[in-house]
Amino acid sequence: MTRPVRLVQIGMGNVGREVVRLLMESRERWLHRYGVNVCYAALLDTQGGVVCPDGIPDRVLRDLVAAKETGQSLAENSVGMRVSPLEALQRLGPDLGPVVLVDCAAGGGTYEAIHQTLLSGGSVVLSNKAPLAVDQERYDHLMEAGQSRLLNEATVGAGLPVLSTLRSLLDSGDEVIEIQACASGTLGYITSELMAGRQYSEAVSQARELGYTEPDPRDDLSGLDVARKALILARTFGRRLEPGEVRVEPLLPPLDTGLSVQEFMDALPEGDGEFSERVARAQRSGCSLKYVATIPAEGEVRVELREAPERSQVGSLTGPDNIFVFRTREYREQPLTIIGPGAGPTNTAMGVLEDVLQSARQVRV
Ligand SMILES: NC(=O)c1ccc[n+]([C@@H]2O[C@H](COP(=O)([O-])OP(=O)(O)OC[C@H]3O[C@@H](n4cnc5c(N)ncnc54)[C@H](OP(=O)(O)O)[C@@H]3O)[C@@H](O)[C@H]2O)c1
Repeated sequence: MTRPVRLVQIGMGNVGREVVRLLMESRERWLHRYGVNVCYAALLDTQGGVVCPDGIPDRVLRDLVAAKETGQSLAENSVGMRVSPLEALQRLGPDLGPVVLVDCAAGGGTYEAIHQTLLSGGSVVLSNKAPLAVDQERYDHLMEAGQSRLLNEATVGAGLPVLSTLRSLLDSGDEVIEIQACASGTLGYITSELMAGRQYSEAVSQARELGYTEPDPRDDLSGLDVARKALILARTFGRRLEPGEVRVEPLLPPLDTGLSVQEFMDALPEGDGEFSERVARAQRSGCSLKYVATIPAEGEVRVELREAPERSQVGSLTGPDNIFVFRTREYREQPLTIIGPGAGPTNTAMGVLEDVLQSARQVRV
């Protein structure tokens, strides 16, 4: 029997729970096909977690997923405790062999745990963008600690092979000229609805009702999530830039920033006129409005609502699908393009799982 590779997972939200479920399904297959034996040594949320160096049994994993679904914290469970990700890693100690830290949390609070894991020879898999959207100096510290052991496919395009495609282009000596991306399912849906004749306020309300937006739709409409993806793409092909250097045009009308969510929803019709005008202008020139990230090899990285010719790949995209168009030295005339669903817990978890398998194969002991 091969010695197990221990997983420490931070985050048991929509994505994290799906990762646990899919991993339980995949483990036997991985063992037989690749000789890779993985087990969960720790699961963590904001309140604490469950730490078990010998591996959390499947029955307990299932209970924990079910309990998280009902809103319980891991620390409230009979096997749970108040423990931070860093403390959990210290408890596991160095004698157990390398760990794979899986970050499915939201926000920058996991940076230190990631850094420590890389420094101690472990691997890291992220769906969480925030630890990679830090200032350039802190980003460099992560790369110096273990660039090849940090995998983050799911941070851009969820389960779509976006970053692996970019990396394989670079590894084979190709050079990026420019990447264009519609990298938000939510904003893709809203812009498609605008082009279909809906008012801005209706499109945003509908997206919220369908569960496409965060509880506060401004978190999507601010464009910051797309800006983080643009920053990650840019840094992946070697650009050095600070988060503040990405120019972001929010998909928001000029409303007071201090409004509650309900006040904001009530005020949305104030934006209808402005967005209807932009739709009409785009249609007059045979274009669609799309929320596009443009990441050139040099010059400004920007995230904005812009017109794309209706017949172009970007302009003809509909609904929440994502598109990533790589114009490179070798794919100059006909850019290499990836289209598909770029969000959702299952697609994202599949991207995470692929990286977990790759990491586990690298650290097999
Ligand atoms: N959903 C998607 O389609 C998608 C696609 C690509 C990438 N992502 C990224 O994947 C990550 C997870 O997404 P999600 O939809 O699962 O989010 P979510 O439902 O909000 O879950 C976040 C989880 O992380 C935990 N958490 C947050 N900060 C933490 C910290 N500092 N320490 C320990 N635990 C922490 C939360 O704990 P509590 O349970 O205690 O609150 C929660 O369990 C996010 O970063 C998101 O941007 C999501």
